Amino acid sequence: MTATGCDRKAGGVGESPHDDIEQVLISGESIQERLSALAEEINRDYAGRELLLVGVLKGAFILMADLARRLQIPVEFDFMAVSSYGSATQTSGVVRIIKDLDLDIADRHVLLVEDIVDSGLTVNYLLRNLRARGPASVEIMALLSKPDQIRVELPIRYHGFAVPNVFVVGYGLDYEEQYRNLPYVGTLRDAVYGSARPRP
Ligand code: IMP
Repeated sequence: MTATGCDRKAGGVGESPHDDIEQVLISGESIQERLSALAEEINRDYAGRELLLVGVLKGAFILMADLARRLQIPVEFDFMAVSSYGSATQTSGVVRIIKDLDLDIADRHVLLVEDIVDSGLTVNYLLRNLRARGPASVEIMALLSKPDQIRVELPIRYHGFAVPNVFVVGYGLDYEEQYRNLPYVGTLRDAVYGSARPRP
């Protein structure tokens, strides 16, 4: 899909959009196709090595599960949960770790898996935090990014889709903890927000 367009594969079989969805931007089918291609790259890049996938909760849980089942290399999993100071829909760049890793990542190959890079401040913070723990390598995977919003230079090694500067839900992403389970990524109707529509 293009950064501004609607996914032509949207609304396919079994995917009639949720009533609150205004527009499906990326269909479930497109996400799965892209994930297969990214998993192939990861399998190739890490051949002969062990990989530790670090998912950023909660948004990355679906992405982690779908990606994991496509990996053929030896892989372990860990998760971090962070909270960003600021409003629910706008990050301030100051990040607090709510749940830290269970595993020691020293000398390990780490792939940080994030649902969406908006300003990039959260991933930038996590990248610096993980690098300080002495891993053999750290790379970033982000399913989505908002190129118009990014405020820091980020080396995103595995990237799914660019989305326009709008608030999106689905495939792990929530609005007030809802819509994470939608298999596609889309925008919400105005009525869902009442008077509190998140800023683009
Ligand atoms: P960043 O620090 O500005 O890159 O923000 C990253 C975090 O903000 C993501 O992990 C999401 O939790 C949240 N976020 C940013 N944009 C959206 C969106 O469009 N929908 C849902 N959550 C978002």
